[in-house]
Amino acid sequence: MDDLVAEGYTDLTVFDLSSIALAVAKQRLGEHADIVLWIEGDITRAKFPMNRFDIWHDRAVFHFLTDPANRHAYVERVISAVRPGGHVIVATFAEDGPEKCSGLPVMRYQPEALHAVFGDTFQLVEHEKEAHHTPFGTVQQFVYCYCRKR
Ligand SMILES: C[S@@+](CC[C@H](N)C(=O)[O-])C[C@H]1O[C@@H](n2cnc3c(N)ncnc32)[C@H](O)[C@@H]1O
Repeated sequence: MDDLVAEGYTDLTVFDLSSIALAVAKQRLGEHADIVLWIEGDITRAKFPMNRFDIWHDRAVFHFLTDPANRHAYVERVISAVRPGGHVIVATFAEDGPEKCSGLPVMRYQPEALHAVFGDTFQLVEHEKEAHHTPFGTVQQFVYCYCRKR
């Protein structure tokens, strides 16, 4: 988000369950925080206008959805809220990533399996792995999938 603001993008939305996470990000952006629409809520219940977003970017949220019904609800929202031809980038723990995060169980994905959850509405364009170095000095294996909505 910080980089997008710095590059001059103005139609930006940040969504998170945690008011504290939103407050930290807002504080980090300082005077630029007003450019962003901040929404607190559960992504599996969120209501967005149809075709609202050109780009959907999720790092380390989707993998918290261990219940198939919640994953289905999430994907339904991406299908509805991203415009046709829009871009979807989802990063989760990789198959050799941690089994838990913040004490909560998480899902771990290979790129093809992550794409399969999203289904044929999305074309998998590319994927890559990343060794993420956390502020706590640990390393977490992530997989990034970049898809286009058909
Ligand atoms: C590991 S943090 C990642 C934060 C940020 N995306 C990043 O990459 O730095 C996971 C975030 O997912 C949020 N989260 C977990 N379940 C969620 C849900 N059902 N709806 C919205 N946000 C959720 C948490 O509040 C937390 O801020």
